[in-house]
Amino acid sequence: ADPKIGVYGLGTMGSALALNMAEKGIDIAVSNVTPDLIEAFVPRAEADGLTDRVTTAPDLAALVQALPRPRLLLAMIPSTGPIDEMLGQVIPMLDEGDTVIDAGNADFHDTRRRAVQLAEHGLNFVGLGVSGGEAGARKGPSMMFGGAQASWDGLKPILEPIAARFGDAPCVARLGPDGAGHFVKTVHNGIEYADMQMIAETTDLLRGGLGMSAEKVADVLEHWNDGALGSYLVEITAEVLRYADPHGSGPMVDAILDKAGQKGTGRWTAIEAVTLGQSATMIEGAVAARAWSSEKPLREATGAAFGSARLNLAVEPDDLEAALLAARVIEYAQGFRILEAASKEYDWSLDHAAIAETWRAGCIIRAKMLGDIATAFHEGIAADRLFLAPAFADVFAVGIPALRRVVAAAVTAGYPLPVLSAALGFWDTMRQPSGTANVIQAQRDFFGYHGFDRVDGKDARHGPWWD
Ligand code: 6PG
Repeated sequence: ADPKIGVYGLGTMGSALALNMAEKGIDIAVSNVTPDLIEAFVPRAEADGLTDRVTTAPDLAALVQALPRPRLLLAMIPSTGPIDEMLGQVIPMLDEGDTVIDAGNADFHDTRRRAVQLAEHGLNFVGLGVSGGEAGARKGPSMMFGGAQASWDGLKPILEPIAARFGDAPCVARLGPDGAGHFVKTVHNGIEYADMQMIAETTDLLRGGLGMSAEKVADVLEHWNDGALGSYLVEITAEVLRYADPHGSGPMVDAILDKAGQKGTGRWTAIEAVTLGQSATMIEGAVAARAWSSEKPLREATGAAFGSARLNLAVEPDDLEAALLAARVIEYAQGFRILEAASKEYDWSLDHAAIAETWRAGCIIRAKMLGDIATAFHEGIAADRLFLAPAFADVFAVGIPALRRVVAAAVTAGYPLPVLSAALGFWDTMRQPSGTANVIQAQRDFFGYHGFDRVDGKDARHGPWWD
């Protein structure tokens, strides 16, 4: 049978996605920029009994020729220079109505630019956010589609069968045109950063502060995972904490250098948030924590100069659970506020309930809470005020006092909580009808004659300091 889609790029993610498609009965053609990965792919397809569904093409031109029109060509290669290079090569080979799909983690600005570039040739460009790592790509990822309706119509019969399932629902949706899918994936990753950092901060409090062993912390997290905090990230943290170092004694985590890597999506989320007039402080905190982690020599020098001792931590594990839950709602709320701001800016009409539903399975931030979030949006809560949804009233009633006790205890004892404390800073700012910006406005007017609005609405835009 004719291949339904071509997959270009047979690295970890591309090959997993291709095998997933073949397993779901979709005939595919595959290729790669270098032959080694094509050669490595063939025995894997054989081992899985999928060779009948796979056509291998030696290069991009052969891959394009193997596809029926209108063509669907999915690239799983770095969404930076390599994709631009590939587009430059492939555009002349394609025909009007064909679709190229970038399934990598692209900056959505690039996706928008590439969509315009392809449209000039009568071609469609899809930015497809794919989450779930290699296992997800192979068994069922969560996918965030941004592109033309016509491309969605062609791709839906391929993407739905390979997607993760929540109940019967496939975790893939067309979220909007051009960069919408990649933008949603970027914010997904920002939330991922914040959630990971929050869990790391909590682990530090449990281990360093309460003196629990890694194994004991794993028990605590596993218990939390059975409740409202149920999520992939809590689950895997419990799991990694149970591993012993095969090359030494003690837990594996203690043998890992405390310098976090980052490829950029969390940082992009923070940048876009600020550009859109938002501020996702929990995501910014997580990006900052990763950046600071890489400055180990400076941390060592500062610790040597000023001391690195931490005081006894007076905190209850139950408070940590409740605090983490409240902070997680705030973290999602910040994420959806960015999505809403971008939706307005780029005229995407994002469906926030559909986004939450797409994240319920297959992706890294899948969490029980996403069901309540989707329901809250279905029930009409505004996208910028998720924390006011009735479903979360009890979470905050218990969780905010707990978060306050946790942050206070940690600050007193000298434990850094860049993300958990950011949650509280946001919360305490947003619950105050009267804030501190009157002083900022007075300062601005004083030094720059910038003017201000008065509380009583009187038409007097400058302070007496200018009289
Ligand atoms: C996912 C992940 C995935 C990848 C990130 C990690 O949703 O499957 O987010 O896309 O693991 O790129 O990003 P960092 O390397 O920046 O942590």
